[in-house]
Formats: sequence, structure tokens, C-alpha cells
Amino acid sequence: MMKILFYDTKSYDQESFEAKLPFYPGMKIDYLKSELTPATARLAKGYDAVCAFVNCDVGTETVLLLHECGIRAILLRCAGFNHVDIEKACELGIRVMRVPGYSPEAVAEHAMGLALAANRRIHKAYVRVRENDFSLGGMLGFNFYQKTAGIVGTGKIGAAMAGICHGFGMKVLAYDKYRNPSLDFVEYVSMEELLSQSELVSLHCPLTDETYHLINRDTIQKMKDGVILVNTSRGGLVKTEDLIEGIRARKFFAVGLDVYEEEKRNVFEDRSDEILESSITARLLSFPNVVITSHQGFFTQEALDAISETTLRNAAAFEKGEATGNEVK
Ligand code: NAI
Repeated sequence: MMKILFYDTKSYDQESFEAKLPFYPGMKIDYLKSELTPATARLAKGYDAVCAFVNCDVGTETVLLLHECGIRAILLRCAGFNHVDIEKACELGIRVMRVPGYSPEAVAEHAMGLALAANRRIHKAYVRVRENDFSLGGMLGFNFYQKTAGIVGTGKIGAAMAGICHGFGMKVLAYDKYRNPSLDFVEYVSMEELLSQSELVSLHCPLTDETYHLINRDTIQKMKDGVILVNTSRGGLVKTEDLIEGIRARKFFAVGLDVYEEEKRNVFEDRSDEILESSITARLLSFPNVVITSHQGFFTQEALDAISETTLRNAAAFEKGEATGNEVK
């Protein structure tokens, strides 16, 4: 019997995994609501593997504690792994597996949803109409049709977003270290050219040392005036202070964020009863042309199905000593 301890579990995670578990006999899952952090890592004693989500802290200290507890595998039920000390895990013989590309369309559709909502001020219209205010002041948007979209990172999600923009009748520019050969309608350009020509810039590259604060005062200055910026990738790609400065300087027509630097404490939690002390999020939310969602790009039925299926397949392969192709090394 392989015993897996799930951290940071919400009811929808549990439902999705419980539905699949009968097809994986020999596996037992216990669910915890707490995130995996150095403070909770010791709870994993007696388990073979832990399963963590995107906001868990699987840094050096956690990995060392998991090793002490006898954990042999870290199952990530997400694509990104920038929150895991992979090197330490490998050194200690802990296998790390993830779910790459569970539904690129889910995230790409959400990115376009944010772009549209922010552009056409749908977030404001929703509230206004509920108050019997049917006026249109302050809600003038612009057509995406025949405008230019700049896609930064054309992996699975970026490619899906490029396809959506193409379907909207936009010219699609892209910047990536590696070209995606399936995107014959996309023109690859330098980052500078992409920024200077795009009315919509959408970020889809991973957070690495190289991409940390990719969007900063300098790169914001290179963007077209009246640009729409969408980030569904990772908060650290955008230097929030510089973004706020740019919004104040009227550089952006609109901004749509599914991820932002300060999200860690907020993500998936109901904090509506709290008084948020010093919150950059609150500052961002005070602007009429900013729409923020809480890391929900992945959150579709199809994506949850794929996440539970691949995670359990990863666990089964680990148990049999087989490779899955989903290892992070
Ligand atoms: P992927 O690995 O298929 O594609 C990433 C692309 O970024 C690759 O083509 C790579 O060459 C490119 N890239 C890497 N470094 C770069 C750089 N310095 N400059 C430009 N391009 C660079 O990844 P996928 O599946 O498309 O996911 C992209 C990101 O989306 C993930 O890293 C994750 O952070 C984020 N994500 C967000 C979700 C959400 O719910 N909001 C859900 C899933 C992923």
C-alpha cells in the first residue's frame, strides 16, 4: 500500500481525486487542509509520498524535513516547480514529479477572459448594472480585431493563447528562447520589438532567475502607450511597484492579473473578514482598469480531471519504479 499525504487540499481537490482513486488500487490518500511548509512537513512521517500544490513552500528546509520523515516522492499537482528545491530533493534521492500541461487551454482562455474583462471594463459593468446604473461612462474599450498581441513564452499555454488571439483576428507576435514550430501564423521578434508593437502583452514563460521581474520600469517604458498587460504565469515576472508606477502614469489601458507577487497569503483563502494591513493587492485593486483573479487560470473541470489522473499515474509509476517523463530534475 502506497500512502500519500495531500497538503493544501480543498473540497474540489478531494472530490476529483476520490473519483479516480478506485482505479488505482494499492494507494491510500489522507488529506490535509494545511499547506506544506517547514512547520507541517513532519506530519508526513509514516507516508511514502506527499502531494503539494502551487503555493506550498517546498524549499530546502521542507525537503530536508521530508527526507527525515522517510518521504521518497514529492508529487506536485501543478505544472510550475519554482517553489521546490529540486537540487536538494535529487541529492537526497527524493523523486519530484509534476503535471505538465494539464490543460493549457484552461489557462489561455482565462488569460483572454482577463484581457476582455479589463479592456471592456466588464468587472465595473457587472457591479454598475446590479445597482440599476446603466450608464457607460468610463467603460469605453477598443477592438482586439486587427490589433497586435505579443505572447511572451510560446510553450503549451502561450501557444494556446496565440491561437485564441489569431482567432480574434489579431496579428500575433511572440518572443521565446525557442521557437514553437507549430505556430506558423506567429511572427517571432525580439522582446523589445514585441513590447513596442503590441496592444496586448500576455506573459506565458516560467518564473526563473532570468525571467524574474521581466516586466519592470525599463520594459514598461518600452511598451506602447495604452497597452493591455495580462499575467497568468507567475507573479514574480512583474515588478509590482513598477507596474503600479506605470498604471499611475497612465501607461496601461488595462491590466489583468491572475497571479501577482503578493498572492501567496491570499490564494484560495477567504480573507473577506480581515483588515488587510499594508497590501499591494489592495492598491492594485483600487485602480478602475485592473482586474485581478486568484490564480484560477487552471480551474476548469477538464484541468482538475487531468491533474488527478496524471498525479495518480505519476504515483503508480513511482511505486513500480517506472519513469513517467514527468520527473523534474
Ligand atoms: P511550457 O514549459 O510549455 O512553456 C514555457 C515557455 O516559456 C517555453 O516555450 C520556454 O522556452 C519559454 N521560456 C522559458 N524561459 C524564457 C525566457 N527567459 N524568455 C522567453 N521565454 C522563455 O509551460 P506552460 O505549460 O505553457 O506554462 C507556462 C507557465 O504558466 C508556467 O510556468 C506556470 O508558471 C504558468 N501556469 C499558470 C497557471 C495558472 O493557473 N495561472 C496554471 C499552469 C501554469
